[in-house]
Amino acid sequence: MKSRIAWKFLGAFIFLTLIAVFVLNFFVSLKLRDHFEQKISEKLQSNAILVGEILKHELREQNLEDIQQKTNTLANDLDLRITVVDCQGKVLGDSGKDPSLMDDHKDRLEIIEAMESGFGQSTRPSDTLGYNMKYVAVRVDDDGGPLGVIRFALPLSEVQLQIRTIYRAVLSGAIVATVIAVTVAYFVSRSITSPIREMTEVAQRIARGDFSRQVKAKSRDELGELAESLNAMAEELQRTIENLKRMDRVRTDFVANVSHELKTPLTLIKGYIETLENKALDDKEGARKFIAIVKEHADRLSNIVDDLLTLSELELSERRIEKSQCDLKGLVDEVVLGFGHALASRQQKLNVELLGGDFGIQADRDKIEQVFVNLIDNAIKYSPNTGEIEVSLTERPNAVEVRVKDGGVGILKEHLDRVFERFYRVDKARSRELGGTGLGLGIAKHIVLAHGGQINIESEINKGTVVSVTLPRQ
Ligand SMILES: Nc1ncnc2c1ncn2[C@@H]1O[C@H](COP(=O)(O)OP(=O)(O)OP(=O)(O)O)[C@@H](O)[C@H]1O
Ligand SMILES: [Mg+2]
Repeated sequence: MKSRIAWKFLGAFIFLTLIAVFVLNFFVSLKLRDHFEQKISEKLQSNAILVGEILKHELREQNLEDIQQKTNTLANDLDLRITVVDCQGKVLGDSGKDPSLMDDHKDRLEIIEAMESGFGQSTRPSDTLGYNMKYVAVRVDDDGGPLGVIRFALPLSEVQLQIRTIYRAVLSGAIVATVIAVTVAYFVSRSITSPIREMTEVAQRIARGDFSRQVKAKSRDELGELAESLNAMAEELQRTIENLKRMDRVRTDFVANVSHELKTPLTLIKGYIETLENKALDDKEGARKFIAIVKEHADRLSNIVDDLLTLSELELSERRIEKSQCDLKGLVDEVVLGFGHALASRQQKLNVELLGGDFGIQADRDKIEQVFVNLIDNAIKYSPNTGEIEVSLTERPNAVEVRVKDGGVGILKEHLDRVFERFYRVDKARSRELGGTGLGLGIAKHIVLAHGGQINIESEINKGTVVSVTLPRQ
């Protein structure tokens, strides 16, 4: 594990575990020791009571020899030292030493306590044996009163030995707990740091412009959210970069297209003028025809330049559209009237349908007029003779929708997205023949968007096309 966070995490975890185990160990050990000492005392006490019962008869008789002999046997069986004392503190029997050599025991703490309350205990160095002992004493009572005291003595080292065994068990438990805790901590810290490392790697790739990898780690926590955000950010970034690249391409294409569109009519004009210069001037009839053609191309040039100016003006003034009240119904009628000649020459019919009554909006009238001129112009151009065109106006709560529908050649799906691009024509030859440059829809879209509206195109090949424009009222 190289990661520094992992080490910090693991270190903190081990530190906390050790403190917890240490504190727990300390209190558990204390409690256990108390409990254990208590148990030892209780056991010694009940054994002493039994021994008292056994020696009662001998005590009553004051049979010293028997007392000493039984004391020795019992002490041997119980594996501890037994002392028998009479009510005055005189030692009657002792398993560790000859009683006649021992002094009075009436001042011993445990014996005083036992005489008073029936039970006494103390821990202190033994006067007789010289090392630390635990003493437990019980009074032996007869019907007539106390007969004496039975005292047990156990070397403290033996008690401590037993307590140490318990300490060792607790300590082993603590070690096992620590090992388990550290193992768990290792895996937990890995589960945290490995997604972080993965995200770092992905982020570094993104910084290098490589979007090929996504963060795969998907936990349901803050890290999972971070991973999701990172993936979303990468996607957005990639989209933006692609968009920028596309825009750049469109711009380069645009310059190439403009040059090409301008060059074609110019070359033709130049050609005709040269021909005129060389010979056609003498032939008046021919010259007139040539001049008419030159004029036609000059008009075309002028149209293209007009369109380009409109576009660049739109780009410049996108946010400065000057709106005034205008009635879309009146505006559409006017545009349709303007196409009267074109419609008649192709024997096409155009119907205007009204759904609702209020078609008033705030808009730049001239620009909106340009939108419908372009749409109806397309509907006429890309429909066969005798075709029918339908323009419908629909009143919406906060907008007016205008649809221009034709039954013409239609557009293949793969071109639909691109028809709004400048100079984009589905069938170049045909469009040019019809006098188009591919700027009409681009201009229309620009104007509609500048008004805060929407423009959509739907089409089916050989069935027809519908362009719908929704303009907000304000
Ligand atoms: N109603 C329609 N039916 C079929 N094709 C259409 C229709 N409207 C547009 N198109 C296709 O979309 C292309 C782009 O249209 P757009 O109006 O931008 O250019 P244009 O009509 O070729 O030239 P311009 O409008 O500048 O004179 C057209 O060349 C044509 O191929
Ligand atoms: Mg057009």
